[in-house]
Amino acid sequence: MVKNVERTFSIIKPDAVKRDLIGEILKRLESNGLSVVASKMLRLTREQAEGFYAEHKGRDFYEPLVEYMISAPIVVQVLEGENAIAKNREVMGVTDPAKAAPGTIRADFALSVRENSAHGSDSPESAAREIAYFFTENEICGRH
Ligand code: PPS
Repeated sequence: MVKNVERTFSIIKPDAVKRDLIGEILKRLESNGLSVVASKMLRLTREQAEGFYAEHKGRDFYEPLVEYMISAPIVVQVLEGENAIAKNREVMGVTDPAKAAPGTIRADFALSVRENSAHGSDSPESAAREIAYFFTENEICGRH
């Protein structure tokens, strides 16, 4: 049977980086069939954060979200694997940690809806846009 191998984009957010949870989060992603095929740590500029979350501009949580995302370094990565987009979201759990399923990254580590430890693309279109926002094709070392 043909496998649906996809790439998705993931962020380990400031609250998790500050608490030294990078390894723990990557371990959960990797042990669920998501291979890291590109990765880097960076501190977002305000312009980068505003552009990344542009679809939420005007919503009440937008400005505090931008402030939070530039408050400390983040780690961005491209993940590759079978049904990677859905798998990553399953392993992360839903946006609000209070509603996230037990054993998910957000249920176990997130502090609030804003400080929710991880981001994952929500569709193939978002994944393509978000990967291209941070990585060139040359920086991605695909396994498939
Ligand atoms: S929505 O309402 O469906 O568009 O929200 P969602 O796509 O799940 O997440 C939007 C991103 O904004 C962050 N954020 C918040 N969302 C909702 N409410 C509040 N108060 C809030 N504060 C921050 C949320 O964590 C999502 O971030 P990403 O990085 O996209 O997961």
